[in-house]
Amino acid sequence: MSQQKDQILAEMGIKPLWRLRQASPAEPQAEPVPPVPLADDAELVVREQKLEPAVPHSVPEPALSGVAGMDWDTLGEAVSACQACRLCERRKQAVLGVGDPHADWMLVGEGPGAEEDARGEPFVGQAGKLLDAMLAAIALKRGENVYIANAVKCRPPGNRTPEPAEIEACRPYLERQIALVKPKLILAMGRPAAQTLIGGEVKIGAARGKLFSYLDVPVIVTYHPAYLLRNLPDKARAWEDLCFAKDQMARLAST
Ligand code: URA
Ligand code: SF4
Repeated sequence: MSQQKDQILAEMGIKPLWRLRQASPAEPQAEPVPPVPLADDAELVVREQKLEPAVPHSVPEPALSGVAGMDWDTLGEAVSACQACRLCERRKQAVLGVGDPHADWMLVGEGPGAEEDARGEPFVGQAGKLLDAMLAAIALKRGENVYIANAVKCRPPGNRTPEPAEIEACRPYLERQIALVKPKLILAMGRPAAQTLIGGEVKIGAARGKLFSYLDVPVIVTYHPAYLLRNLPDKARAWEDLCFAKDQMARLAST
């Protein structure tokens, strides 16, 4: 292993690599995991929440009705001006996403934090540094064949978890991003992202290592980088998830 890769894994808190392999003899990527079909009603349940008038600041549906036909420029403008949920009230700016607009890999996080809100780019704070290290560990790089987005485009005050109604209000933008990027694989990082893409209640520990799908795109679930910063032992599991994702991508590319 190159020194650089060693450093990357050290930064992720996983070193040396051989220790990890030894610790997990049944590496998930060694066994094909049968795709878990997304139950139609699972998505429906989430979508139905959208109909609940739970968001006081939601604007009438027509405000978001054109999103499905938008190009990148129009989408960016729409998100910047969006007032479809109350997260618009305290944002400095909306953060649409960053990266290769035709990437094979799409990563979905939760929502912008303070630094993202200030700079207008997802994952540029501490969690972002870890994410970059994780990407580097599987030979990926922000912006190169990778597109990064969040479940909500505006910063939840105090970095609280976005509410289901906020995620639902923002869903058309994420859907449009997925439709425009057409990724081969989506990595959902953390519970809100996983629940957004899979539907229903998701426990990361139970959902990782499986293949789900969203709008016909395979979805893999893993821990959120910010969670990993606080829960070092789970970094090894995140590494396994990345290897699983890489392996699935190789399969997808060969079919
Ligand atoms: N956490 C997220 O979920 N997204 C970001 O963009 C930054 C931190
Ligand atoms: Fe609009 Fe999404 Fe921002 Fe809410 S979080 S105001 S839906 S862009």
